[in-house]
Amino acid sequence: MTRRESPARIEGVRACVFDAYGTLFDVSSVARGAQDALGERWQALSDLWRLKQLQYTWLRGLAGQHADFWQVTGDALDYAMATLGIADEGLRGRLMNLYLSISAYPEVPAMLAALKARGLKLAILSNGSPAMLAAAAGNAGIAGHFDAVLSVEEVGVYKPHPQVYGLAPRRLGVAKEQVCFLSSNGWDAHAAKAFGFRVLWCNRFAQAPERIPATPDGEIVDLSSLPERVG
Ligand code: LAC
Repeated sequence: MTRRESPARIEGVRACVFDAYGTLFDVSSVARGAQDALGERWQALSDLWRLKQLQYTWLRGLAGQHADFWQVTGDALDYAMATLGIADEGLRGRLMNLYLSISAYPEVPAMLAALKARGLKLAILSNGSPAMLAAAAGNAGIAGHFDAVLSVEEVGVYKPHPQVYGLAPRRLGVAKEQVCFLSSNGWDAHAAKAFGFRVLWCNRFAQAPERIPATPDGEIVDLSSLPERVG
């Protein structure tokens, strides 16, 4: 299958707003970091943990029972460990701690520096709690690039609620059409486009387009070409 690439630049962009988990940060690096204890099960645990983490955000949103992403991430880990028959409190604590030092994808620091040098405003807009995002960005050495690190905790509901996307233009002082939003999560990219952002889907995992409203403006395979694609 040929990967679809965004053919052109997106003009009129004043701010780049990034999803965190899966886009700037490699979610699989967390369980991989405990591979010595998990052995071959690390990948299965990683995939199920992430799947349940996202499901729980949507389920809590529909039920009107918000809890922050640290809680949801822990609940999802408990589910994944129970499913795989892993009962080890020490390992649970270790995996949760690893979430705070999650790895950034290799192209991220230079890409952010290039965008910043061009005068673009930069922000993170994520389900993550403020403490989780501060730890991850600080550990990756990229915190200083951002004009804002925005958490859904400010509105008390998870993506893809439009109130979440509305945080970014308000905080950055730009119109939503002047925001280029980047997410590797297809559902997040589609929903951000439906909100009114310009969107490049960073389709790291070669996923099929989602069948939900709106279509991202283009696709990139990682974030390295972003500085050439916005202006
Ligand atoms: C986030 C989730 C979607 O960072 O990965 O918001």
